[in-house]
Amino acid sequence: MVAFGDALPTLKTPVPGPASRAWVDRLARRECPAITARRQRRAESLGLADDDPIVWARARGANVEDADGNVFVDLTAGFGVAAAGHAHPAVTGAVSAQLDRLVHAMGDAFPDPQRIKLMERLAALSGMDRAILGSSGSDAVEAALKTARMATGRDGVLAFTGGYHGLSYGVLAALGYKRDAFQGPFSGQVGAHVRLAPFGGDLAELSPLLSQVGAVLVEPIQGRGGVRVPPPGWLDGLVNAAHDAGAVVIFDEIYTGCGRTGGWFAFQALGLRPDLVCVGKGLGGGFPVSACLGTAAVMDAWGGSRGEALHTQTFLGHPIGCTAALASLDVIEGLMPIVDETSQLLRAGLAGLGLGLRGRGMLVGVEVADPLGLSRELLQAGYLALPAGDAPAPGEGVAGGMVLALTPPLNLHPRQIAGFVDSVGRILGARP
Ligand SMILES: Cc1ncc(COP(=O)(O)O)c(C=O)c1O
Repeated sequence: MVAFGDALPTLKTPVPGPASRAWVDRLARRECPAITARRQRRAESLGLADDDPIVWARARGANVEDADGNVFVDLTAGFGVAAAGHAHPAVTGAVSAQLDRLVHAMGDAFPDPQRIKLMERLAALSGMDRAILGSSGSDAVEAALKTARMATGRDGVLAFTGGYHGLSYGVLAALGYKRDAFQGPFSGQVGAHVRLAPFGGDLAELSPLLSQVGAVLVEPIQGRGGVRVPPPGWLDGLVNAAHDAGAVVIFDEIYTGCGRTGGWFAFQALGLRPDLVCVGKGLGGGFPVSACLGTAAVMDAWGGSRGEALHTQTFLGHPIGCTAALASLDVIEGLMPIVDETSQLLRAGLAGLGLGLRGRGMLVGVEVADPLGLSRELLQAGYLALPAGDAPAPGEGVAGGMVLALTPPLNLHPRQIAGFVDSVGRILGARP
């Protein structure tokens, strides 16, 4: 009997099943309608695809079970979070023990050992000296942007087309991915201090801008923007040019970090030295924790606390999140030797179907026509994978367009890889 976690899909009901539908009906009555995509009843009555989500009831490893008892294989790892697999026992065990010790400490006022140990561990892994912890990815990016302002005294920020850094109120200004849509109703409230440049574009054109900005914010590989890898040497050139102009370089490694692209962080694999690095997603093994890591030179520009912290949050350095992160980093470290092999297996299978692939390690973009349609058909076959990306912007030096994005657990089982590749092949083979 294959353990729940390493299993292939088992579907007992149509997808979504009656229990998921009933939950989604209740959700629809209570949640702001802009949040969860729901069934389009009209579309359904016309015999078109049913868009309701499945409602997750249980997850372990790469398996998710929905409210109807259907088992899926999750190639999203829940937005890249479950790098060590869902509910890894080492993570949940450490958290259970911590729940008995200390659930909550007091942010900037009274710290606790877990928070200190996590910052020490992150410093050892990244080579960065200091950290500001947060709960979400956007927390980490906002902390980094504030740090850059402190360090340079300059208000300007340079970000890139296709870049995604979260949707919180402050960080919305730095959005490159579907900027018009996401900023739309808020455009009058979004700071005008951010300039966008084409991702992977001509660096020579950036020179005049760089001397005006304090921060250069970039994903080493754009995740949500479509798993886009910039041309070789482009990031090196960007880092050097930014440093020459006195700007602080922020690498947003919320997607690429914590083992997803092989190694701990993409900047290390590239041999680059950003001043600030943002991590989140996989860091907490499913618990919300994030960090802005930085060099002492940049972080110490904040100066010492004068009693009232200039930057803090109620849940800053939450003991449960920090405990989960410490355990999750241990598990990821153990998985690091197999990331290459697992990723090769997945890539070789998909390449064998004649598909183009983007990305690095276990961050894979599959180039297919109609990735949204494919993701819907895969759901019906028991595989979770989402589309990512947008149309290319003028001047970009990278391929644009949508892909099917795969960000599975790093320890996705070969049986699950084979099953997924087989399903993709079957679905695409049946297309006219
Ligand atoms: C690269 C990157 N930065 C920042 C974020 C924002 O993280 P969060 O949604 O946790 O605020 C994301 C989320 O997808 C991301 O991919």
